[in-house]
Amino acid sequence: MSSEQWWRNAVVYQIYPRSFADGNGDGMGDVPGMTARLPYLASLGVDAVWVSPWYPSPMNDGGYDVADYRGIDPMFGTFVDAIEFIAAAHKLGIRVLIDLVPNHCSSEHPWFQAALADPDAPERDLFWFRPGRGTNGDQPPTNWASMFGGPAWTRTTNPDGSPGDWYLHMFDVTQPDWNWDNPVVVDEFDDILRFWFDRGIDGFRIDVADSMAKDRSLPDATVAPGATEPHPRAPDAIWNQPGLEAIQRRWRKVADEYVDTPQGPRVFVAEAYLDPVDILVPYVSPGRLHTTFNFNALESAWLAESQRLVINTTYTAHRGVGAPTTWVLGNHDNVRVATRFGKAETGVDFASGREAEEPILLANRLRVLPTDSALGLRRARAAAMLELALPGGAYIYQGEELGLDEVEDLPEELLQDPTWERSGHKIRGRDGCRVPLPWSGDEPPFGFGPSGVPWLPQPERWAGSTAEKQVSDPNSTWTMYREALRLRKELPAFRGDFAWHESDGGDVLAFSRDDEVACVVNFGAEPVSLPDGEVLLTSTPLVDGLLPSDATAWIATW
Ligand code: NOJ
Repeated sequence: MSSEQWWRNAVVYQIYPRSFADGNGDGMGDVPGMTARLPYLASLGVDAVWVSPWYPSPMNDGGYDVADYRGIDPMFGTFVDAIEFIAAAHKLGIRVLIDLVPNHCSSEHPWFQAALADPDAPERDLFWFRPGRGTNGDQPPTNWASMFGGPAWTRTTNPDGSPGDWYLHMFDVTQPDWNWDNPVVVDEFDDILRFWFDRGIDGFRIDVADSMAKDRSLPDATVAPGATEPHPRAPDAIWNQPGLEAIQRRWRKVADEYVDTPQGPRVFVAEAYLDPVDILVPYVSPGRLHTTFNFNALESAWLAESQRLVINTTYTAHRGVGAPTTWVLGNHDNVRVATRFGKAETGVDFASGREAEEPILLANRLRVLPTDSALGLRRARAAAMLELALPGGAYIYQGEELGLDEVEDLPEELLQDPTWERSGHKIRGRDGCRVPLPWSGDEPPFGFGPSGVPWLPQPERWAGSTAEKQVSDPNSTWTMYREALRLRKELPAFRGDFAWHESDGGDVLAFSRDDEVACVVNFGAEPVSLPDGEVLLTSTPLVDGLLPSDATAWIATW
């Protein structure tokens, strides 16, 4: 593989290992299943994969509760399986990014266990243990709320059975936050990075990349008028603290140790839901991280003005620091795009001044709205072609290439997202976008594995959406993605300049790449004419030469 800056334009496919492909028939996806399906990804034409956590974990938060950062959970296979996966991907020209979870670990991590076992253990300072407030210390040290509901602190019990200190967990009670002020934590993560880089990993997606550094004075968060507790995003002490910069620069140096290896640069992509984009782009300024997801684009409503504004502000802000933009329509935390865009409210209307919303809360708000699935799929296809025509990199969440929709009616007793329990059954959480993929056949389990019942049930309606059916159908969503990826790779214009096209305006969003390819998206109700040129690809067939409503076309205008 060459050492050019591949990450600036890469199309990265997100694998959620539990739900991608089951190699051994236990109903859970695994690493051998992933390896077996690599040729499918190669024929789709992706440049890289990002694998969500595959580490040993009690799976209380789908593996984002890591008990051992250098291993593979037996549910997913062996360490050798992982090494074979990396080698097989590289052989097919696919780079491999994995997840780094640096804000918290699992309560089963040996260092947290040591900290719990002895209040005087040195491991205590690797986490945030604090005495409680109130006369008996029975009130949490701050008023902070956890992202999954309930307080962000849990009280411990001393070895002698008496009530002890509290520890901080911004997510589930089983996800204690690391104390990044302790150099042991800092060194440990340097070592984890090198461990995986040395085993051939091309990069890391950094989980909650805006939260590791904390204000040691731990001030209470402001409670909004009318609310009973602060919003989990309210504590300024937690989010986007100045200490992050030093961590990012340090990690960049570690990655840059590998720039001159035959494999080429190792990279980072930050997961940080920061709005507006001006406070996000310092993360990708020189000497810091390489890329960061553009979550405003993911959350934007299907409205021309909102999309135009987000593209403009995102592109301008990133260009200002010399970083590429990184587009994303979905992931394992958000309602699938084909469902979201089939609802009466399709996301955040940034043009009306609305601010970004917490994904879990946005999902929960939209979930109760009915879905027009045909409309949702049509728009999801148009959105994919819009995203893939924009400058920078793009991510595809597994199943988007099949046009999969959200499974909104999973039985309550099967829900696994910690949000469901911690919110007192008010917020169903994110399981609906994590249902195992349909590969083949006419009924569940749709070839997910050689046998076994998938860990979440697949809907019967996916019979027409299997990979097997779509790969051989010239009109399928899969074929549209493959064509888009092929054109993107073949035409140099897709690595060229971005400029708004003269036909841009109102309900028609239009831009050109290098004055050679125009991308036109029709958000309006009426069909619109297209610029002169050869039609390269459309998300929906043209009608009498016009681009219909909720459709995207790519035109060669050279
Ligand atoms: C973001 C991950 O994408 C999500 O799935 C997880 O629950 C939280 N971070 C906590 O690790």
